[in-house]
Amino acid sequence: MEKNKFSSRIGFVMAVAGSAVGLGNIWRFPYLAAKYGGGTFLIVYIALALTIGFTLLVSETAIGRMTGAPSPIKAYRQLKAGKLRFGGYINALVPILILPYYSAIGGWVLKYFYEYLTGNSQALVAPDYFGSFISNPLQPVIFLMAFTGICYAIITQGVKDGIEKMSLILMPVLIVLAVFISGYTLTTPGAMEGVKYYLSIKPEYFNISTVVAALGQIFYSLSIGMGILITFGSYMDKKDDLESSIGQIEIMDTLIAFLAGMMIIPAVFAFSNGANVAAGPSLMFITLPQVFASMAFGNIVGLVFFLLVFFAALTSAVSLYEANVAIVEEVFQIGRKKANHMLFVWTFGIGMLVALGFNVLSFVQVAGMSILDMLDFVTNSIFMPIGALCTVLLIVFVVKTDKIVAEVKVSSKFIREKVYRFLVKYIAAPALIVILVSFILASLKIISI
Ligand code: PHE
Repeated sequence: MEKNKFSSRIGFVMAVAGSAVGLGNIWRFPYLAAKYGGGTFLIVYIALALTIGFTLLVSETAIGRMTGAPSPIKAYRQLKAGKLRFGGYINALVPILILPYYSAIGGWVLKYFYEYLTGNSQALVAPDYFGSFISNPLQPVIFLMAFTGICYAIITQGVKDGIEKMSLILMPVLIVLAVFISGYTLTTPGAMEGVKYYLSIKPEYFNISTVVAALGQIFYSLSIGMGILITFGSYMDKKDDLESSIGQIEIMDTLIAFLAGMMIIPAVFAFSNGANVAAGPSLMFITLPQVFASMAFGNIVGLVFFLLVFFAALTSAVSLYEANVAIVEEVFQIGRKKANHMLFVWTFGIGMLVALGFNVLSFVQVAGMSILDMLDFVTNSIFMPIGALCTVLLIVFVVKTDKIVAEVKVSSKFIREKVYRFLVKYIAAPALIVILVSFILASLKIISI
């Protein structure tokens, strides 16, 4: 068995699910669901995940497995992408730019976990605790260093002994923790109001903003348009059932997002009657510690919650790191070890600028955006839809859909073949253009989504 391949189908499924289940599921999904009409958002989200999300996941994985090329740059070259070749570079740029700021946030999560562990949870309740933590120039950098160091250590062990093993252990634990916390928060008095709010279908929310928000979330949550599935697909065995693996990954990703909503929305309702539930970033680091503090056994719930978020962030960061290793190996023609060293320096270096962007570098702003917001905007709102669009165009016009279907059929019956063909040909590209245009217009404050 080669060291840099997954040793089993379940290893592949858990590793990709580890990439997919991340901060996006636990922190972004619940507040989007709260903002876009609860049950309405859930329905739209699930429908789009099973169709467009499925199509793009299959496409990227099949490209990776077909070409055996771990980096999107190489995969595009092998597929003779011609004018679309730049798409390979865009797909490569996204994980390179995301990893540093994702790790900076991973460091914040680690800090909160550490505070719960050392019995300091009372301090986290102060409303300005988070603000003063990130405006301290040293602390966030120390936790960033620890977070990046852990990723580095896992990557050193390789795909099979590092990523696969980590995912096989952490993902089942993560599911158990999610079930435990959501079950417990449901027992708090007043939580049922939140469940009603979360699950009730509000027809007035069936509109284009909800669709665009759900689509954007699906791409981010399933780690699409950033080369990761191409990398992991290239480590997948030809014998392993591609279609059912993708199905299982989607189920896990959606399940954890759903459970995150179940743990956060009812708890926030019980605590504050719904105020702040759609508050965005401050929800996780400011509101939730207050909510936990108001519960019986809140210290334990907080500890377990931040452990869960830490596992989710870690498995996602490691997948970004691995995609980056493949890219750096390819671009600089160097070995895995050297690539790992370079990426540690890059992630820590740029991550440090992100952390300092909230204190000594806070004057560095473009259109009111901090360094973190800028990186997030460029990657998620611009490069990611363009990267995914290039992949769709590559399939439809250069590789041809038949070839991708044939690759899937090497290992699967491909039950959803007709759906796949239709979506990849006619729906995926327009949907990606809608996302790209809406995100840009929203950032210019011309529309609001
Ligand atoms: N899918 C991850 C999440 O939901 C985010 C992520 C993006 C992970 C890009 C890896 C790469 O948080």
